[in-house]
Amino acid sequence: MTCDVAVAGGGLVGLSVAWHAARRGLSVTVVDDAPGSGASRAAAGMLAPVSEAGYGEEALLRLCLASLERYPAFLDALAAATGVRVPLRTAGTLVVGFDDDDVRALADLQRFHGELGLEVHRLPGREARRREPGLSPRVRGALHVAGDLSVDPRELHPALLAAAEAAGVRVVRARAAGLLRDGGRACGLALDGGGEVRAGAVVLALGAHSGHLPGAPALPVRPVKGQILRLRGAAGLLDGTVRALVRGRSVYLVPQGEDGLVVGATVEERGFDAAVTAGGVHDLLHDAIDVVPGVSELELTETLARWRPGTPDNAPLLGPSGVPGLVLATGHHRNGVLLTPLTGELLAELLVAGERPGLAAPFGVERFGCS
Ligand code: GLY
Repeated sequence: MTCDVAVAGGGLVGLSVAWHAARRGLSVTVVDDAPGSGASRAAAGMLAPVSEAGYGEEALLRLCLASLERYPAFLDALAAATGVRVPLRTAGTLVVGFDDDDVRALADLQRFHGELGLEVHRLPGREARRREPGLSPRVRGALHVAGDLSVDPRELHPALLAAAEAAGVRVVRARAAGLLRDGGRACGLALDGGGEVRAGAVVLALGAHSGHLPGAPALPVRPVKGQILRLRGAAGLLDGTVRALVRGRSVYLVPQGEDGLVVGATVEERGFDAAVTAGGVHDLLHDAIDVVPGVSELELTETLARWRPGTPDNAPLLGPSGVPGLVLATGHHRNGVLLTPLTGELLAELLVAGERPGLAAPFGVERFGCS
């Protein structure tokens, strides 16, 4: 089978690239044995460039803000293509602090946001509880980030898959076992169990598994384990996302749907270890209940561990790989859901026009000396 573009990986990022490329007139095949079962399944769906912004990550922040801006139109386009409206939660984020050190850390964070020209508001504990009555009276202070949004990735992924298929994208349910090359140029994917997909260009969107596809260059992408919890019975408990520093440890609570709540996430350097640990679940629940005591009444319905695709500077790899015909859409680390619309747009532009768009320029793999 031959097509213009073969995409290795049918998570949110791979599907967004496939859908955008198909809408630009390219024939596209996605290769994935279980689309959406990786990081896309675990993600909480915070669209939170401001509250995720870290020191020294200004270029990443600009990329994330550009993708956030696209989200409403992206969801409108998905709804038009599929008839399915993926809800966007717009209540923003409260970043709350628990003890004096946590509140001092919030002041530092607010200074940093101010230097970047980002709008955040400092609230005393009382005012934070007025916004979110579920917060513990022990919360000492908070920052309100009005612009943050959230979606449920478990609603977004099937909608994107349906939109991609409606646009003509073919999904091959097999594992990408290796990159095919012809005279040094990428020309398709070998499939686990035999068979291949031949293509004019290949997009590597395998998330944390992108680092070592046989036949492709080794990439500086490593798995960063995150354990996450899903709970039920949270109707009315929180309006928007709550992030907290609890005695220096970070936790977030993201309301989903009618009565769901996602609590996350650990950050662990343990390779592809998929174990959900007693300690991980304990820490998340302990901190979440400290911040929002009502969490203790909820039903714990799911625990899960997956891997963020981490890079040395926490920013993605977008664009050429050094192997002609192989382009990269990976390394999204903590921002995969957020960067889904923009990554699709930028990669489709690159595939159609042959040049990396300006917004993607700071995110080439060559910044790590591996082109
Ligand atoms: N973006 C949230 C996380 O990576 O845990």
